Amino acid sequence: MSQLHPDLTRADFTALGHDVVDLLADYYAELGTAPAFPGSRPADVEALFDAPPPEQPEPIAAILADWRDKIIPNSSRQGSPRWFGFVNGSGSQIGTLADAMASALNPNCGGWRASPAATEIERRTVRWLAELIGYEPGCAGVFVSGGTMANVAALRVAMRDKATWDINAEGLQSSHRPGLMTVYMADHETHVSLVRAMDLLGLGRAALRAVPSRDDFTIDIAALEQMLDADRVAGMLPFCVVGHVGSINVGAIDDIGALADLAARQNLWLHLDGACGALGGMLPELQPQLGAMRRADSVSFDAHKWLGVPYEAGCLLVKEPDAMRRAYAMQATYLLPAADNEYSGLNYFDFGPQLSRGWRALKVWMTLRYYGAEGIRTFFRQTLACAKRLHELVADSDDFEVVQPAPLLYIYSFRWAPKELRGNDALLDSINQQISDELQRRLLAFAMTTRIRGRVTQRLSICSHRTTIADIEATVADMRMIGRELLAQQP
Ligand SMILES: Cc1ncc(COP(=O)(O)O)c(C=O)c1O
Repeated sequence: MSQLHPDLTRADFTALGHDVVDLLADYYAELGTAPAFPGSRPADVEALFDAPPPEQPEPIAAILADWRDKIIPNSSRQGSPRWFGFVNGSGSQIGTLADAMASALNPNCGGWRASPAATEIERRTVRWLAELIGYEPGCAGVFVSGGTMANVAALRVAMRDKATWDINAEGLQSSHRPGLMTVYMADHETHVSLVRAMDLLGLGRAALRAVPSRDDFTIDIAALEQMLDADRVAGMLPFCVVGHVGSINVGAIDDIGALADLAARQNLWLHLDGACGALGGMLPELQPQLGAMRRADSVSFDAHKWLGVPYEAGCLLVKEPDAMRRAYAMQATYLLPAADNEYSGLNYFDFGPQLSRGWRALKVWMTLRYYGAEGIRTFFRQTLACAKRLHELVADSDDFEVVQPAPLLYIYSFRWAPKELRGNDALLDSINQQISDELQRRLLAFAMTTRIRGRVTQRLSICSHRTTIADIEATVADMRMIGRELLAQQP
């Protein structure tokens, strides 16, 4: 039997690489014209890939043909200028190539010895980002999978820091625990990632205390203070308040300075969930809202959202590096030598929940270098201009309804509500859902609905660096057209 070689010849690898890059170039070339959503149904996609495990090697041409014929036609194009779903970034080309390079080197970015240069690039990228958004450059930081894991990782640091007993040793089951450890966040859009954090950390969902929001969807600080006092009297142990820096539906930004004052007064850890908006700290024009971020104990954000690097690239910054290390450092004879020597460097397994880690930082580092901070600011401003234009179109029309303040970020919710239907909320809810469904069905754009104050609304996340004002105007026109058709069908 001939020996199977794990690697291709250099010539074959190069030729195959060119074929793959050609396929990727096709994908990028079609982004402006191909539908954002493929219109595929789950059962059809399942059937396409219903095959037994491959026992024998397959020709690479057959595998690549599946990319072209089965995968691409049944994929959502989140890089499309008309992809407005969830809070999905558009994926930088540089980041795509960086991911291939990271995979080739394949460093395990948990321990320094496995990843000397990769570790340094992560540390440097974290520092750059901290500097760029106006956070403490001497902070510690780590790339994680996304905003959810960044929130989980931040709350773990907060628990370790604020617990009055040795929580690493005794956990939440400690008999020394003086009361239920509680976390506070605005009730309007307490993001589900916080619920996930409560689950994973064993805190329990009931310990996530929903604080009333004000009319502008930001946290009501006075209500928070009253709640904290009452909870303490009831024997609870408030330890953390989470501020929004860009809420999921309307992009609300809490009063960060007031939260920092309150956190200092009440001995709370202040974590900012900036998954959507913390990178806005790069923009001088957002300093009035974001300038106080530097006062938070920790800030999280997603480079795979507004920065547009490919998934996954969540990031957590913690102002006090020792707080992060205290929460995560572990000892094991097989991880570390018996004593430090000249090869002892920063081990990221001491700064986050993962041991083995991929090289997420490379795509961020390369994207930042390739476009430069000024280039990124230009992209950000373009998305903000699109959101502003959307707000204008809604506010100036007589058939759309404004449901939120003018957008500070790139997320915007609104409702189709022609005069003749105003007051008929049940019908408007149904029509708004159908508008969104029809946009998808007709392959015009991908938008989603949410509920604002209980009512179904359109919600556009204009996160793509490829989206233009023309895309926004066309999408609004499409929504109007569908809305009118639906209205005409009413008995
Ligand atoms: C405010 C907020 N926090 C956290 C997250 C979770 O981020 P991820 O989906 O990357 O886990 C999101 C996602 O949209 C978000 O909008």
